Amino acid sequence: ARVAILISGRGSNMAALIDAAKRPDYPAEIVGVLSNRAAAPGLDIAARNAIPTASLAQSSFADRDLFEAAMTRVLESWKADYVCLAGFMRILGEDFVNRWLGRMINIHPSLLPAYKGLDTHKRALADGATEHGCTVHFVTPGLDDGPAILSARVPVLPGDTPASLADRVLAEEHRLYPEALRLLAIGKVRFHDHRHRSDSHPN
Ligand code: GRF
Repeated sequence: ARVAILISGRGSNMAALIDAAKRPDYPAEIVGVLSNRAAAPGLDIAARNAIPTASLAQSSFADRDLFEAAMTRVLESWKADYVCLAGFMRILGEDFVNRWLGRMINIHPSLLPAYKGLDTHKRALADGATEHGCTVHFVTPGLDDGPAILSARVPVLPGDTPASLADRVLAEEHRLYPEALRLLAIGKVRFHDHRHRSDSHPN
């Protein structure tokens, strides 16, 4: 499967996907990395790995639809089958999301549905959570709202700060994201929007 990655910054999850895809038995190939920030450090990592890169600033388009149409053209030029959001900090519009529905996934640093949005580690600590983690999920129009593919748990430890907790979660992210993409690429997971299914569930 041909996979494009969307980033905005550091790109450590992107790097984990690139590394995984180097293994000969991995069922996906990273065909391009697109950033909405030209200065994203992740772009340099991708370039060092000889992966095509592009950056598009939303501010240089008249509106979000035109920005997202330009992103789609880049992704299509790479013949991407799947899109992985990896620290991509823009909320995507419905047309773009629906264009990639079932073929676009995201990693979020919480045990969804807890702590959608930003500052997840700080909020988990403020709540006195004893467990935290990360989730890979299909992207749907609602923010951090789509069906989960995999999640990983970590303990919250005494003395944790948002930074120490983020580090513990990030180590799990780097393991979880390549595994979730693998399952998607081999067809072991498929998108169903359970909330909109007409058939009923026994439980
Ligand atoms: C990660 O914690 C990811 O879960 C969140 O943003 C962060 C991105 O980090 N969506 P990186 O750019 O992958 O290093």
